[in-house]
Amino acid sequence: MIFCMNETQIKELIKKALDMRNFSYTPYSHFNVGAALLSADDRIFTGCNIENASYTPTNCAERTAFFKAVSEGQYDFDAIAIVGGLEDAEELDFCPPCGVCRQVMREFCKSDFEIILAKDAENIKTYKLVDLLPEGFGPEFLED
Ligand code: THU
Repeated sequence: MIFCMNETQIKELIKKALDMRNFSYTPYSHFNVGAALLSADDRIFTGCNIENASYTPTNCAERTAFFKAVSEGQYDFDAIAIVGGLEDAEELDFCPPCGVCRQVMREFCKSDFEIILAKDAENIKTYKLVDLLPEGFGPEFLED
């Protein structure tokens, strides 16, 4: 069990992340990532990765989920589930968030924000944000 989440909630988050891989737009990498972000008021915001012919504008699944949530006025988050792998993979490996996504998490989340990596609903690894982005630069550095 992770802090305030029970096993059923964790499995639901992972299932939603897995479902999102069906919407990944990945004509270049064929690597499909899904994310499900749990807000402090128990809403779930989902995301998939969206690639681009110009490559650089590609948006990761995690950031899609964060930007959907923030654009709807949600700024408090407890956890994110992330799943990813090649579109035709029979089994998934763990898919850790890229550095840019870790930095986006750092903008909105506390150090104990939970990052759940899953191969499936049974095989998971969990980290706190501070473990994946120690000594990160955050909004508090810009305060007077
Ligand atoms: N990707 C994500 O969606 N999240 C990550 O944290 C790692 C990478 C996507 C971006 C790109 O569409 C594909 O995976 C291959 O890099």
